[in-house]
Amino acid sequence: MPSPHPHARGEIPERHWPKPEGEVGPPQAASLDELRAQAEVCRRCPLWRDATRTVFGEGPRDAGAVFVGEQPGDQEDLAGKPFVGPAGRVFDQILETAGIERDKVYVTNAVKHFKFEPRGKRRIHSKPNAGEIQACRWWMGQELDLIGPDIVVALGATAAQSLLGKAVPVTKMRGRTFEREDGVRVFVTIHPSFILRIRDSADKEAERERFLDDMKAVKKLMA
Ligand code: URA
Repeated sequence: MPSPHPHARGEIPERHWPKPEGEVGPPQAASLDELRAQAEVCRRCPLWRDATRTVFGEGPRDAGAVFVGEQPGDQEDLAGKPFVGPAGRVFDQILETAGIERDKVYVTNAVKHFKFEPRGKRRIHSKPNAGEIQACRWWMGQELDLIGPDIVVALGATAAQSLLGKAVPVTKMRGRTFEREDGVRVFVTIHPSFILRIRDSADKEAERERFLDDMKAVKKLMA
């Protein structure tokens, strides 16, 4: 079992907890480090209760591209870093083949706590709901404001929903760039875990190629 969250242990006084949407929250952070520290004690939705920790985004403030996944998985929850588990390995390999250096881009998630169902000793991934996605947009909005990337990449449906504010049919829309009212450009593609779930090896390889093509297109969109 993960150790209880610092809130649950009573180590973080309530006055330091960010307030739910609609109320006055903490002041606008001046840096990603400050924002990360604020997010560590987030209770904007109930997911903090069972997760080990907030898994915040990672990467340089001057990143040309921000990649947004769904939520941390089991390994990310334990490590405190995004995309370090099986989906992260697929992501890393394909980024490298496309000529994108992972440590030069910013990688984050639409939802920053691991949502799961306990099954025996295992923790099974559970999809975040619309309320949880909405509550966590607060953090991603500020990450994007601070970084101001050339392109934001939605990896899968949850990220696309969070970034575009509506449900998006990802397999139909993949490879397309949408410009939001605030000028942020969002490139939509699949989540790398989709490749992991394909059983047929020829189909898996074809999907890897399609994802590689998408990553090459993203590289061109980075200034
Ligand atoms: N899947 C995600 O969407 N994000 C991660 O960080 C890991 C797996």
